[in-house]
Amino acid sequence: MLGGRILHGGDYNPDQWLDHPEIFEEDVKLMKAAHVNCVSLGIFAWAALEPEEGVYQLDWMDHIITRLEQEGIQVVLATPSGAMPHWLTQKYPEVMQVQADGRRNLPGKRHNFCYTSPVMRQKITEMDRELAKRFGRRSNVILWHISNELGGNFADSVCHCELCQAAFRKWLKKKYGTLDNLNRAWWNYFWSHTYTDWEQIHSPVPNGETTSTALFLDWRRFSTEQMNDFYQLEARTVKEYSDLPATTNFMYFFKGLDYNRMKKGVDIISWDNYPFWHKEKDEVPTAVKAAASHSLMRSLNQAPFLMMESSPSAISWRQHNPLKRPGMHMLSGMQALAHGSDSVQYFQWRKGRGGFEKFHGAVMDHKNGSNTRVFRDVAELGERLEGLGELLSHTVNRPKAAIVFDWENWWALEDTQGPRLDFNYVKTILAHYRTFWEQGIEADLISMDASLEGYHLVTAPLNYLYKDGYAKRVREFTAGGGTFVTTCFSGMVDETDLCFTGHHPLYDVLGIEQEEIDAPSEEFENRFTYEGTVYPAQNLCEIVHAAEDTEVLASYETDFYAGAPVITRHAFGKGRAYYLAAESGLEFLRDFYRKLFVETGLENALKTELPYGVTVTERLGEDGKRVIFVMNFKNEPVRIEGTGSWTDAETKAAYDGTLLLEPFECKVLI
Ligand code: GLA
Ligand code: ZN
Repeated sequence: MLGGRILHGGDYNPDQWLDHPEIFEEDVKLMKAAHVNCVSLGIFAWAALEPEEGVYQLDWMDHIITRLEQEGIQVVLATPSGAMPHWLTQKYPEVMQVQADGRRNLPGKRHNFCYTSPVMRQKITEMDRELAKRFGRRSNVILWHISNELGGNFADSVCHCELCQAAFRKWLKKKYGTLDNLNRAWWNYFWSHTYTDWEQIHSPVPNGETTSTALFLDWRRFSTEQMNDFYQLEARTVKEYSDLPATTNFMYFFKGLDYNRMKKGVDIISWDNYPFWHKEKDEVPTAVKAAASHSLMRSLNQAPFLMMESSPSAISWRQHNPLKRPGMHMLSGMQALAHGSDSVQYFQWRKGRGGFEKFHGAVMDHKNGSNTRVFRDVAELGERLEGLGELLSHTVNRPKAAIVFDWENWWALEDTQGPRLDFNYVKTILAHYRTFWEQGIEADLISMDASLEGYHLVTAPLNYLYKDGYAKRVREFTAGGGTFVTTCFSGMVDETDLCFTGHHPLYDVLGIEQEEIDAPSEEFENRFTYEGTVYPAQNLCEIVHAAEDTEVLASYETDFYAGAPVITRHAFGKGRAYYLAAESGLEFLRDFYRKLFVETGLENALKTELPYGVTVTERLGEDGKRVIFVMNFKNEPVRIEGTGSWTDAETKAAYDGTLLLEPFECKVLI
C-alpha cells in the first residue's frame, strides 16, 4: 500500500489561488479536519510553473509541499502536460493536435497536444526536469502523476498530423517489413486498395478511408503505443531525479486507448471513477458498471490500484447531474476498496470561482466553509479509511473467475460489417459481469494476452477476434481442468481481421462447427428451453453443428433452424467448454451462470443467496487473511440469511447466520 495508508484526498489546484495565501492556510487546516492525507498537485499548473518559456517559478509549489509535509499530508506530484500554456501554442502551433478532417486545432481546452511533436516533447521534458530536480526527493512526495487522462480530448482521441502519419508508417514498416506483407494482411486486394508506396498510407478518417478494418486496428494499436511512448518519456524524465513510481490516470472503458498496451511502464494503475449514481431508482446497473471498471483496472496488473478521481458530490458534465443521496458517498468509496483500490481520491478539493468546472462537485464549495453535508460525508469516509488502513494493507482480490475483455476485440467487433452493425461489446460484457456481481462472485476482466492460470472459469463473450497464441492458452486452460465459455460470433478473425477458414480455432475444445449466423428482427425471434425454462434467442442466432461427443443442452425451437444447438457442452481434457450459440436476455445469463458456479465450485464469500442489490467481494492477504465487503446498493434495509459467523472488522460486533444492512450500507467483515 503506497505510503502505508489508504490515500484520501485528491486533485488540489492551489495554482488557481496564488493571490489568496489565506485560502491555502485554510485548506491545510480543513484537509486535516476532513482526514485528507494525500493531494494530487499541479495537474494543470504549467502556466503557473513556467509563465514564460524557460522561466520557471517553483517557489509557490515548494511552499505548498513544505507546509503539507509539516502537516503529514502526502503529495502525488503531476507533470503538467494535460494543459498547455498559451505562450507554447502561440510560439509553436505544431504542438496542437490535428483532427481527423485534417484541421489543426486552435489553442484552448486541454489534452490538446500532439504526442509525437518533438517540440512538445522537448518543452515538457524541460519542465518535468525542473519539477523532478526540485521535488523528486521530497519526503512527502510519493508518486508521479504523468499528465492527465491521456487521450481524453476528441471522440477518436488521437492526432492525425503529418508527424503522426509518418510515425504510423514507420510503425507499420517495422511490423510488416514489406508492403506485400501489409497488403496481404489487410486484404487490400479488395476495392483496389493495394498500396504501392508507404506514403499512400493515411490514418482512417471520415472523409478518407473508413472501410479498411485492418487499417483501423493497426492505427488504434499505433496510437496507443505512441501515447504510451509519450507517457514513458515523461516518466523516464522525472525518474532521472527521483526513485518514485509513476502512474497516469486512466478512464473506465475508454475505447480510444488499449489500456493493456498503455499500462507499459505504469508502475501503479490509477483511474477516474464517475458513476451515474441515481440515474434511476435501481442503482444496480450503475453499481455493476463501476464494479466492472474497478475490476478491469485491478486486472491490468493483477494488483491494487488507485482511484485517482471521483466526485465527492455531483459532477457537471452530464445532461443532468444528481447529488449523491445520503449514504452513497460512503458506499461508492467503500466499493472502490472492495474491488482493490488503495485510495479514495476526489476531483477536487476546492471549487474554483470561475472556469469550466466551477459547479463540479468538490470537497470545499464556494459557500459555507466546512459546514456542508458534502464536507461531513467526506470527513466521515476519511475517518473510516484511517481505521481500515492496517487491515487492508497487502491485500488484494484474487478471483477464480475471469471475463475476457480485450480492446482489440472491441475495436474489430464494432468496426466490422457483419450480421449486425449495432454491436455494443461493453454492454455485452457488463451483462455477463452483472450475473457474477449479483451472486457475489468477483471476476477479473482480462485481455487475451493474460495468463489463465488459477482461474476455474473463464468466459469470453463475443470474442470475435483471436490474438496469436490465445487459442493455445485456452486449450491448455481447458485441458488442465478449467471451464471455458464462449458465444456466437467468436473465433471469427485473426489479428488483422482476416477470417479463419476451415474451423473455429477452438473447434476441438468447443466441439462445434459454425455454419451460418442469423440476426433476426424481433418478429423472427427464436427460443429455446434450458433446464425447463423457455428463453428467447435474439439478436444473434448462430447455426452450429455439434460434434458427436458434444452434449446439446438446448436447441432452437422454431424457424428453419429448429433443432440446431443453442447451448452445448464439450469435455476437453480435464475440463469442459460451453458454447452459447444465441444471444438471450439477462434472465438466461443469470440462470446459466448460477448453475455453472455450482458446477465449478465458485461461491460467494458468505456462501449464501444474496438479495437483489447486494454484492460481496473479498480481499486476501498473503498470510491467508480474508477481508469481506458486503455492500447494499438498495436505498432500503436488507436482510441476508445463512451467512455463517463473522466479526465486524470495525465495530467488532459478532454476526451469526444473519446480516442486516442499512440502506446503502457497506460492512467489512473478518
Ligand atoms: C476528469 C479530469 C478532471 C476533471 C474531472 C471532472 O476526470 O481528469 O480534471 O475534469 O474529469 O469530472
Ligand atoms: Zn500529431
